[in-house]
Amino acid sequence: MKKKILVTGGAGFIGSHLCERLASDENYEVYSLDNYFTGSKSNHVENVTYIEGFTVDIENLIDFTPHTIYHLGEYSRVEQSFDDIEKVWKFNKDGIFAVLEFVRKVGAKIVYAGSSTKFGDGGLGRSASPYAWTKASNTELVKNYGTWFNIPYAITYFYNVYGPREIQTGKYATLIALFKEKMKNGEPLTIVSPGTQKRNFTHVEDIINGLVLVGEEGLGDEFGIGSAEAYSIKEIAEMFGGEVDMLPRRAGNRMSADVVTSKTESLGWKPIQKIREYIQEQRKNSWK
Ligand SMILES: NC(=O)c1ccc[n+]([C@@H]2O[C@H](COP(=O)([O-])OP(=O)(O)OC[C@H]3O[C@@H](n4cnc5c(N)ncnc54)[C@H](O)[C@@H]3O)[C@@H](O)[C@H]2O)c1
Repeated sequence: MKKKILVTGGAGFIGSHLCERLASDENYEVYSLDNYFTGSKSNHVENVTYIEGFTVDIENLIDFTPHTIYHLGEYSRVEQSFDDIEKVWKFNKDGIFAVLEFVRKVGAKIVYAGSSTKFGDGGLGRSASPYAWTKASNTELVKNYGTWFNIPYAITYFYNVYGPREIQTGKYATLIALFKEKMKNGEPLTIVSPGTQKRNFTHVEDIINGLVLVGEEGLGDEFGIGSAEAYSIKEIAEMFGGEVDMLPRRAGNRMSADVVTSKTESLGWKPIQKIREYIQEQRKNSWK
């Protein structure tokens, strides 16, 4: 019997890669639940059943018992979350409660997609934006549900993810894809001041390798999945080699984050890809 796996946010950037990897394993039957807020039907992959809707309605939308739920389907932008607080609350706080209640009723394992923002600036990062706070407080709720109701859970933490299918234009574009788009259009690279803030950019394939491993074998908290290499945004812009346009400081922008990957590494995970090489490849491909 195949194991039924539910990925929330399966039409998003990371979720679509996760669906693709899981669907390539004949032991799994893969379902996605996505509200298409930032997700897109162009991210759909073969052999996945796509269900459209909000996680808050999970109980009415999912009529089967998943073996594991990978919960990625949340509002997921730091600076923009100040303008979108109602969505942040509905998607992330109402959403996590509904998902955890569903998990409790059906007895599935939950693998939560936490954020490295929780470890930002010695821990201050956890409350630095509506996004960061919802992600950090959700990790605590997942952990507590695990203890209160004896639910199998694993909490992962992703560090600035880049790679194919990253959103490249518009309000919800993320940095590496945005820089690529600007290089393609001959526009200056916009850096939020001070530009010395450091990020551990991690390729989506490394994220998926860790996530699937934790999904299959991990139990508990602190499964960080991130590259050990930290670069400032100015250094990243230098790798792209474009002109730079400095923007004013913005709220929510942490300076750095601790990398907590030892538990994931103890399962046999290691990051392989390098951001510098990825940028070089994009240049060779004329930023297409
Ligand atoms: N990209 C990163 O660098 C990063 C870093 C840390 C954590 N994460 C987490 O990983 C997960 C995936 O992020 P991503 O980069 O792929 O972002 P994304 O915006 O591409 O993916 C999120 C997906 O979830 C869907 N979604 C959002 N709220 C939903 C809801 N309430 N119900 C159903 N679907 C919903 C969106 O439509 C989208 O398809 C998120 O939980 C995010 O917080 C991402």
